Amino acid sequence: MKRLKNFLFLLMAVPVIAVASEEGPRLDKAPVNLSDQASLQRGARMFVNYCLNCHSAVSMRYSRMQDLGLTEDQIKENLMFAAEKPGETMTVGMDKKEAKNWFGSAPPDLSVIARARGSDWLYTYLRGFYRDDTRPTGWNNVVFPKVAMPHVLWSLQGEMVPVMKKEGEHEVIERLELAKPGSVTLAEYDAMVGDLVNYLTWMGEPAQLERKQLGLFVLAFLAFFFVVAYYLKKEFWKDVH
Ligand code: HEC
Repeated sequence: MKRLKNFLFLLMAVPVIAVASEEGPRLDKAPVNLSDQASLQRGARMFVNYCLNCHSAVSMRYSRMQDLGLTEDQIKENLMFAAEKPGETMTVGMDKKEAKNWFGSAPPDLSVIARARGSDWLYTYLRGFYRDDTRPTGWNNVVFPKVAMPHVLWSLQGEMVPVMKKEGEHEVIERLELAKPGSVTLAEYDAMVGDLVNYLTWMGEPAQLERKQLGLFVLAFLAFFFVVAYYLKKEFWKDVH
């Protein structure tokens, strides 16, 4: 009987646990607008300047940024620091193993990160770094606790510190507060991160487009091959009857 009771209790507890872990921190809405080319261009520039040193985006070709209204020369001059030809993909010079040694985890490829994590998560993540001296990098993050990535945009945003509140037994972060201003205001920083997340969201899409094109190509090939096979069959069976 006691066993059964325990079992029933467990059954009841499971959904509660699932709900609790799903809640997580509140996410801020990312200002994504894929038809705003100026924002996407600013985001692309931020991406190559601040992220590409560590992260790759291997399904993204530089030349594809022509879709953002940039000419090939503009792409070469402003965005290509790590490649020679616009047809190259956004790889990274850093060795994955070495990166893992430095940071404790390897920086993942960001080609489709917006679809893996969601734009709102990215927007909150990139604005959610705060000072934490117990961490090796000196930084922690509200949506990615104990993250191995340092706050690479800190000189822009400045240094945020957490304001705590009591929630039952625990202390939790209520919000972040600016302790040391960066080179731009917090509103300007939000706008910059908005552009960057807009770009990351766009970057996940063309990869999808490319796959769709490949799918169409395969279908076209199958249709063509069907015709070939049909006439071949006709040819082979011609003399049998
Ligand atoms: C100094 C190297 C470095 C730079 C520069 C850097 N990152 Fe990271 N990033 C990392 C590392 C290392 C991780 C892995 C963190 C972990 O797993 O704890 C990471 C993780 C991430 C993640 C979480 C991935 C996931 O889902 O697990 C995102 C998103 C991200 N970085 C975005 C960015 C963006 C956007 C930029 C540019 C503003 C950037 N990073 C610049 C090192 C870097």
